[in-house]
Amino acid sequence: MQKLDTFDMVLFGGTGDLALRKLVPALYRRHVAGQMGAASRVLAVARTNLTREEYLAQIEATCRKHLAAEEFSDARWRAFAAQVDYVQVDATEARDFKKLCATLEGRDDATRVLFLSTAPSLFTLTCDNLAAAGVVTPKSRVVLEKPLGHDRASADLINRSVGAIFAEQQIYRIDHYLGKETVQNLIALRFGNTLFEPLWRRGRIRHVQITIAEQLGVEGRGQFYEHTGALRDMVQNHLLQLVCILAMEPPTSSDPDAVRDEKLKVLRALRPIVGRDVQNKTVRGQYRAGAVNGQPVPSYLDEAGVAADSTTETFVALKAEIDTWRWAGVPFYLRTGKRLQERLTEIVVTFEDVPHSIFEAAGSNGRTPNRLVIRLQPQESITLTILAKMPGETMRLKPVDLALDLAGTFKEQRLDAYERLLTDVVKGNLTLFMRRDELDAAWRWIDPVREGWAQHDERIKSYVAGSWGPAASSALISRDGFAWQDET
Ligand code: BG6
Repeated sequence: MQKLDTFDMVLFGGTGDLALRKLVPALYRRHVAGQMGAASRVLAVARTNLTREEYLAQIEATCRKHLAAEEFSDARWRAFAAQVDYVQVDATEARDFKKLCATLEGRDDATRVLFLSTAPSLFTLTCDNLAAAGVVTPKSRVVLEKPLGHDRASADLINRSVGAIFAEQQIYRIDHYLGKETVQNLIALRFGNTLFEPLWRRGRIRHVQITIAEQLGVEGRGQFYEHTGALRDMVQNHLLQLVCILAMEPPTSSDPDAVRDEKLKVLRALRPIVGRDVQNKTVRGQYRAGAVNGQPVPSYLDEAGVAADSTTETFVALKAEIDTWRWAGVPFYLRTGKRLQERLTEIVVTFEDVPHSIFEAAGSNGRTPNRLVIRLQPQESITLTILAKMPGETMRLKPVDLALDLAGTFKEQRLDAYERLLTDVVKGNLTLFMRRDELDAAWRWIDPVREGWAQHDERIKSYVAGSWGPAASSALISRDGFAWQDET
């Protein structure tokens, strides 16, 4: 694996959940893989008053927890830890940035990554303080973790203030779904093969479903989640990015803007969901007490930090339509939720039925449409369901699977989404990051849904934890004559 140019990775929110659970373990793994040269450094920045040793003890404990036992060794850890430092900075205190400036002195030639994994309300001030302290060099890149605002206007404000300090080419807006190996595979499937392209359109595809189901609840993030909800947390970014990759026209190259131009066209072609359509085409739900994997779990309303009368949605299902020649009339059903029955991220592409079945006379079910199921997690796989004749005298057909187990096929080590994205930032590759206009188009589509929910005082639908969401979610899709994959 190619060694990365010397870099300083400055992690704002260095003691936060994302840094401890994802970012530091990702950097440790890249260090073990030999990609992080001896001159590169990780500088964790946070408000807490900690010594370097105290911080190292904290990250060692979390890395041991989050990495597989065979990945961790004392010698490897010592080598990595020698390149990590901790700087106490209160992002709201301009003078604290002087300390950071001193730590980075003489290192203007290194690629400087300023990763803001803090509350978005601090993005503007942090960037202003960075600029005022002279930390922003021509080789600096800023990474913005989601959520980027809570609506179009607030996202625009952040984008404008960050944009006043960094050029668009220096801004990396993260959607970690784009860093997942399987999402890359989706791109490979569509644009590395000729097989599907002629079928990838209306007239051939009947409908598409995308599910991101989680078994987890809000995991101690009740306070954050109360102001976010599933629409902003999952649909505005992860689900819409998957729609973009599925629906975009073939880009002319893998150049970042060639890809992002095509994704933007999809976002702009999404039919707005406004007025009565908000009730007809969307479902919002909230989990009540139930059981997940046989373990009792509390209701959302009983989670810490959640208001007793909260109407925040923990589940969303909706019908998206893309007004283009390729996709007119092909519904994209999207759903996501917490405390669902399984942890599953899956795309199901259902093709058109045969126009006329010659098998019916033989009493077969010759009308099950072909399906392409792309499972992103937990086990990555691609399955194409076709009809085959069952052995025997009569012509009886049965759906059978042509299945590819990707994890079993490729034995190479897989990169965690953040490992890929962090190395892409150091390399300066923007392909997997959202451009400002993409983000704007996504919010433009999402805002009216939220506003519609606020206007109609229709009660949020409740669902039992451990189920597949509210009954209204099944009704949404069955009204069009289809069913969710788990219901078929
Ligand atoms: C994050 C959301 O962006 O994605 C979380 O904020 C969610 O609420 C997570 O749990 C899901 O990511 P993954 O990679 O586990 O599917």
